[in-house]
Amino acid sequence: MIKPHISSRVVIFVITCSAPGKTHLIGEHAVVYGEPAIIISVGKRAYISAEKSENVKIYAQDINQSGEFSISELKEFTEKLQQLWDKCFETKNFSPLYSLLKNEHLGHIEAMIAKTMDELDLNSGFKLQINSDIPIGSGLGSSAALSVAVPKVLSELFKKNLTLDEINQVAYKIESLAHGTPSGGDNSICCYGGALWFKKGTPNVIEPLHLDFTKKNFVLVFTGIPKLTTGELVSNVRSLDPEYRDPRVKKIGEYTYEMRKCLVKPDFTRIKELMNLAQELLAELGVSIDVIDRIHKAVKEINGGAKLSGAGGGGYMVCYHEDLTLLDQTIRNLGYIPEHVELGVEGVRTE
Ligand code: PMV
Repeated sequence: MIKPHISSRVVIFVITCSAPGKTHLIGEHAVVYGEPAIIISVGKRAYISAEKSENVKIYAQDINQSGEFSISELKEFTEKLQQLWDKCFETKNFSPLYSLLKNEHLGHIEAMIAKTMDELDLNSGFKLQINSDIPIGSGLGSSAALSVAVPKVLSELFKKNLTLDEINQVAYKIESLAHGTPSGGDNSICCYGGALWFKKGTPNVIEPLHLDFTKKNFVLVFTGIPKLTTGELVSNVRSLDPEYRDPRVKKIGEYTYEMRKCLVKPDFTRIKELMNLAQELLAELGVSIDVIDRIHKAVKEINGGAKLSGAGGGGYMVCYHEDLTLLDQTIRNLGYIPEHVELGVEGVRTE
């Protein structure tokens, strides 16, 4: 909805759009190598309000940071990022890109906005206010949600009428600038919502899974902010010996195909086993940490399923048990908080 704000003489139109976060039920990391993943949207959202203005002004309320950029500054920034991305792609080393974004004030957000302006051919200014419920850098899709919400809100503000598929394409380009060579799964789930079967390819396979998550006992657990970014964790897996890595990636792929069938039946005994098996393979790929291993072990011991979700190195875990009280207690006994979040929610939308 477009909401007019009447100041002393002018009417200012403010548009707000939002996109959900996500959790990987299975298939993360393997999805980068062409295996499928099952990704589910979660009921925590990133909100962006936009209005026309001079220059580009950003206020990120949740991290209490703001910035102002001229249009030409943003154009130069996209060019610089694109040139650096091309160089990194050639050398298969994206660390210079990650350092640039980490060291630049509001680097990630600036990159998202600059790339969107480039893709939508925008040459006038605006003010954006960002307010996100999704914890940053925790495997819950905080960056992917923004990467779809930014093109959505600017498309609405400047009447570009982008379709959902077009928004998702711009979001993928944004995610690539920030993370190197992401699979595209994160931006797709934040764009379309619900639950998705995602397989990278030409073109990507993106199929909605019509699953009912009400009364299903999935619980999320936050294990702490990862020390490494998604891009760095993906790079670490890439630098493993292919003879060691590839059979594990393939096995995660096989479990993901099986998971799809089990969700449809549904067969929760096997769903839990598959979650545990995937976690053990992700640990072998080096993306788990002690806390995640401990929670996984404790939940497995009570016949539940528990795995990291997303890039790993900390962040959120996804757990399942038929007995929610027992699951909650097991997690709390280890000093962590079970979060009961709605799953399979609507994708990007205008508020
Ligand atoms: O960092 P996250 O939680 O948004 O998830 C990344 C998922 C990976 O499979 C590790 C990377 C990717 O591009 O799919």
